[in-house]
Amino acid sequence: MRKNKINLPDPLEIINNIVVSVLSFLSKSKLGSSWKKFLEWLVDTEVYRGAYTVRSPLDSVGKRTTVMKDSLFLHFWPVKTHRNDLRISYHLGMGLATTWLFVILTITGVLLMFYYRPSVPQAYYDMVDIREGVYPFGMFLRNMHRWAAHGMVLFTIIHMWRVFNTGSYKPPRQLNWILGVILLVLTLLLSFTGYLLPWDQLSLWAITVGQQMGANAPILGHLGPFAQVTNLQDAAFGLVGGTEIGPAGLIRFYVLHVFFLPFVTTILIAYHFWRVRKDGYSFPQT
Ligand code: HEM
Repeated sequence: MRKNKINLPDPLEIINNIVVSVLSFLSKSKLGSSWKKFLEWLVDTEVYRGAYTVRSPLDSVGKRTTVMKDSLFLHFWPVKTHRNDLRISYHLGMGLATTWLFVILTITGVLLMFYYRPSVPQAYYDMVDIREGVYPFGMFLRNMHRWAAHGMVLFTIIHMWRVFNTGSYKPPRQLNWILGVILLVLTLLLSFTGYLLPWDQLSLWAITVGQQMGANAPILGHLGPFAQVTNLQDAAFGLVGGTEIGPAGLIRFYVLHVFFLPFVTTILIAYHFWRVRKDGYSFPQT
């Protein structure tokens, strides 16, 4: 009979193997003796051990499973998996692809922050310098960031479509579906807030459309149905920090784009993964 459960390699063993290889390499060179002592000290500290909540040798699948379940980091890497879990035709790999795009966006975004100043009109000139390759790899970085952003929106939608088609939103995964919807909104907001940052004509008019949508929103907008908020202190006003798009709007979008939204998204992605483990994956068990 075909075995459905497959054992996966132990990440702790991989980490330990790397440490042991580094130690043995260092022990061969005289220069490395102080590094060797430092590493030996490091792997023996409470912090190193505590990071993996390992208190006894992981010499059995059962012990490994307990450690995986207890650790926020290691629950990502299960001890065993079902053969169907590896079937790309089922999940299309879209959740993981979206995650990697988010990682690429974070790394390229941080690098772009070194060259971009969110002030008027400097933002536009900085973007042109990055785009025209004045800075090393500027154009490459910007394109990586832009294409990864487009890809993340597309892949999140395909991932949602897959989850819907496999009925994976049904109990017990309702909470994860709701978390997913919030993640989709956050992904769209990340794209929207990034749109203003180049401070060119396309940005200004695209955000003007968003601002008008805010003004016409039901209840929250002063032009929309059931408008209750008067004196222009409405959603559109809150979005751009005034009645016109200017420096106040740019700094708002910048803070939302580089700090607030990525921070909340990272926490929710971690929780989303945790729920995937806790609810059990929905692939066919046969
Ligand atoms: C930032 C966006 C998102 C990321 C990074 C992400 C990531 C993931 C990953 C890695 C998985 C496990 C592997 C897989 O099924 O592909 C997963 C599963 C799941 N996701 Fe997402 N996801 C996102 C958005 C969404 C959205 C928009 C929804 C639905 C509204 C959703 C609902 C679910 C559900 C219900 C599961 C469990 C699927 C199952 O058991 O078959 N996710 N997600």
